[in-house]
Amino acid sequence: MKRINTFEQYEREYNRSVLAPEEFWAEQAEQFTWKKKWDKVLDWNFDEPQINWFVNGKLNITENALDRHLASIGNQTAILWEPNNPNEQAREISYNELHLEVCKFANVLKNNGAKKGDRICIYLPMVPELAIAMLACARIGAVHSVVFGGFSFKSLTDRITDSECSMVITSDGGFRGTKDIPLKSVVDEALESCPSVNKVVVLQRTGEHIVMQPNRDVWWHDEIKIVSGDCPAETMDAEDILFILYTSGSTGKPKGVVHTTAGYMIYTDYTFRNVFQYNEGDVFWCTADVGWITGHSYLVYGPLLAGATTLMFEGIPTYPDAGRFWSVIDKHKVNIFYTAPTAIRSLQALGLAFVTPYKLDSLRVLGSVGEPINEEAWHWYDENIGKKNCPIVDTYWQTETGGIMISPLAGITKTKPGYATFPLPGIQPVLVDEKGNELQGNDVEGRLCIKFPWPGIIRTTYGNHQRAKETYFNHYKGYYFTGDGCKRDHEGYYRITGRVDDVLKVSGHLLGTAEIENAINEHKDIVESAVVGFPHDIKGYGIYAFVICDHERNDTDNLKKEIVETVTKFMGPIAKPDKIQIVKGLPKTRSGKIMRRILRKIAENDLSNIGDTSTLLDPAVVDEIKAGAII
Ligand code: WT7
Repeated sequence: MKRINTFEQYEREYNRSVLAPEEFWAEQAEQFTWKKKWDKVLDWNFDEPQINWFVNGKLNITENALDRHLASIGNQTAILWEPNNPNEQAREISYNELHLEVCKFANVLKNNGAKKGDRICIYLPMVPELAIAMLACARIGAVHSVVFGGFSFKSLTDRITDSECSMVITSDGGFRGTKDIPLKSVVDEALESCPSVNKVVVLQRTGEHIVMQPNRDVWWHDEIKIVSGDCPAETMDAEDILFILYTSGSTGKPKGVVHTTAGYMIYTDYTFRNVFQYNEGDVFWCTADVGWITGHSYLVYGPLLAGATTLMFEGIPTYPDAGRFWSVIDKHKVNIFYTAPTAIRSLQALGLAFVTPYKLDSLRVLGSVGEPINEEAWHWYDENIGKKNCPIVDTYWQTETGGIMISPLAGITKTKPGYATFPLPGIQPVLVDEKGNELQGNDVEGRLCIKFPWPGIIRTTYGNHQRAKETYFNHYKGYYFTGDGCKRDHEGYYRITGRVDDVLKVSGHLLGTAEIENAINEHKDIVESAVVGFPHDIKGYGIYAFVICDHERNDTDNLKKEIVETVTKFMGPIAKPDKIQIVKGLPKTRSGKIMRRILRKIAENDLSNIGDTSTLLDPAVVDEIKAGAII
């Protein structure tokens, strides 16, 4: 298997990818199975935006992730599944078996009316059937839209409605630690306002009692019995949609990020092999939930395209105790481990006693993703997990970028704690100031943009091309704008400094402040709210909500509890506010815009830097909020 082996080779490949990107990516594309080769490698215009990779090429991604491997590694484990409960049997699914299961489930989808181009919502726990369902959609050319199982009914309704899904694939429930998550009943509630859905396929996982709606709901295990194991792969255009994945934006409505077939395939495969320096036979473990892009790209598609063994873990890091990650690494001899800073910090806080019982000697490479990793966590990870013997790849990327953009290549790039280091081949980063002027040279800090398309780039936001244009391509002409602040140090190393827009990174999850406010406002007594982030030791950022209640309630503790319950019910437990302050008014400009900058300073307890409040409609509210701040 070809990959970059030295830093000199990285520099050569990088330069080549900038000087002749089309030739560079065509070479990567040659390694795949095509039903028909492309006519042209790239056609693009960032102003529209219009981005077409491998124009008129025809293929199916599952032929590349599955069929292509069967002759050589058909008996190798494709998915290694570790259950929530360590006493339950782990599952090993070979490439042959996975291929068969995907073909069978693809036939189930067809039998239930699904066809090419249909959108199918997947709302499942972390079980192999989640990957099978995604690949089965891809097999028949249906577009999957996976919704994270930690989102609750309103978030699910919004996502199903936005892309008009015709089908939902779910399970009775899911196990997470000591909890049973009632997925099917959330689906039932969501579907009360989703007229586009006419079929629900239900996997049995927990065995809890659920209500099956006649004519709409069918059981996975019944349907799978009556289908053949033969399902030819649908012919897809290189630019046909592979999936939609919703991500939070600065309005309350999540954006359906669209990824297409060929570019996403080539980019996830390339970045997987090179960043992690994957060797044949390695066991790779990405701890992210498949409901996020990390799970799509580096738990499912990237590893399977590369013919790797990918470990999927159903549970949580602290069940049955905080040594679970390390016990799973020893049990399955994991070679490459990829997790989030927030997980590292929370395990670090629980102490080394949970780490020392384990050998961890199978590990070769460690990865980090989702938010900046602070130096302290980086060193803890390096010393106690990697035993100073495993390179750490701090991988910077986004839902919209499809795959890793800026990252060390494991063992090849000299790392610096806190730095994502250098751009991967094909990625041309630029830093700009607020006016959009490019900041040349080293030792500069600005906003991170990319000036040339790479195969994994977002194509559009589903059903609203204008929104994609405004969010990513309008801010700085000719550039894709990431929404992140970034520094390039004196040696040209990149360090991401965090979001510059109204989204928050809470435990690595991207949440829109407006979306959380909408959920809070569902509480009957709340008339208005404003949410900002504040630095949090474990989560990176915590959620601070300022709320206005429409009448005086003297049971504030109850009110706060109810607000947390409301957010959990409408949006999901990941969006629960950490701090709630009841206020009489919010700092607004004369035009009615909430000055979040001021609230942010208050939440950060940076009271001396609040700045000018004279443009506010009522500057006095600031003093009242300051006086009641929760610190
Ligand atoms: C945002 C994207 C990357 C896939 C999972 C998250 C932040 C991500 C890093 C990193 C610093 C990072 C950025 C980015 N981020 N990785 N290694 N160092 N920041 O995808 O939910 O779309 O979030 O996560 O702020 O814009 P996402």
